[in-house]
Amino acid sequence: MAKTIQIEIKRQSSPDVEAAWEKFELPWKPGMNVISAMMEIAANPVNASGQPTTPITYDSNCLEEICGSCAMVINGKARMACTALIDKLEQPIRLQPLTKFPVVRDLAVDRSVLFENLKAVQAWVPVDGTYDLGSGPRIFPQAQEAAYPLSNCISCTICMEVCPQFNDVTGFVGAATIAQVKLFNSHPSGKVLKEERLRALAGDGGVQECGFAQNCVQACPKQLPLTEAISDVSRDVIVQQVKDFVRA
Ligand code: SF4
Ligand code: FES
Repeated sequence: MAKTIQIEIKRQSSPDVEAAWEKFELPWKPGMNVISAMMEIAANPVNASGQPTTPITYDSNCLEEICGSCAMVINGKARMACTALIDKLEQPIRLQPLTKFPVVRDLAVDRSVLFENLKAVQAWVPVDGTYDLGSGPRIFPQAQEAAYPLSNCISCTICMEVCPQFNDVTGFVGAATIAQVKLFNSHPSGKVLKEERLRALAGDGGVQECGFAQNCVQACPKQLPLTEAISDVSRDVIVQQVKDFVRA
């Protein structure tokens, strides 16, 4: 008998309708991952009861854990769908959208809160303009090595999904944004905005909301040193607050 895969997917056709689980049974193929299973459903949108249905809506792009778009909850764990191999998952495989973000449809969620948070801390190097900036500042290899892991963030929002403090009550910005503050504050050109970034993390929803559960550092698919970044930025925020108090 041909080998099959059992998948249950939490479906929701729009943000304001009730979600419901739908079961699928697909032919097994070697090397399948969760995204390729959903492509199979799109090619033949029929559920396990034999009824025609709609293809699953989900986000994905790179299929190699680089674009950060395919995060979802797979068998109860927030992770990237493109690197979730079917053969390594217990069946039935249960897929549902990230729980801390508004559902757009099926497994696609609106994660714009992360990009708003990054805007709020000015997570960029300010080099706008068409003038000649000359050669960039020298960065020693040790500083490059320290910064590199932080530059690997793919904006997947998994660190926010697993954080007990990331909720409507605290308004916590989450680990990814704080890590980018550390990255840009350590850059020779980026640090021109260091004080503004630290002040943006000083108030409600800022770095002090972290309860140090450490879920983020365990769940991050790119192994960013998140707890270290949060500790360093917390210290810098306090130093900035003291400086601002003395200057006032
Ligand atoms: S810090 Fe890690 S878990 Fe958080 S958004 Fe970046 S890559 Fe994803
Ligand atoms: S599709 Fe890009 S990270 Fe999964």
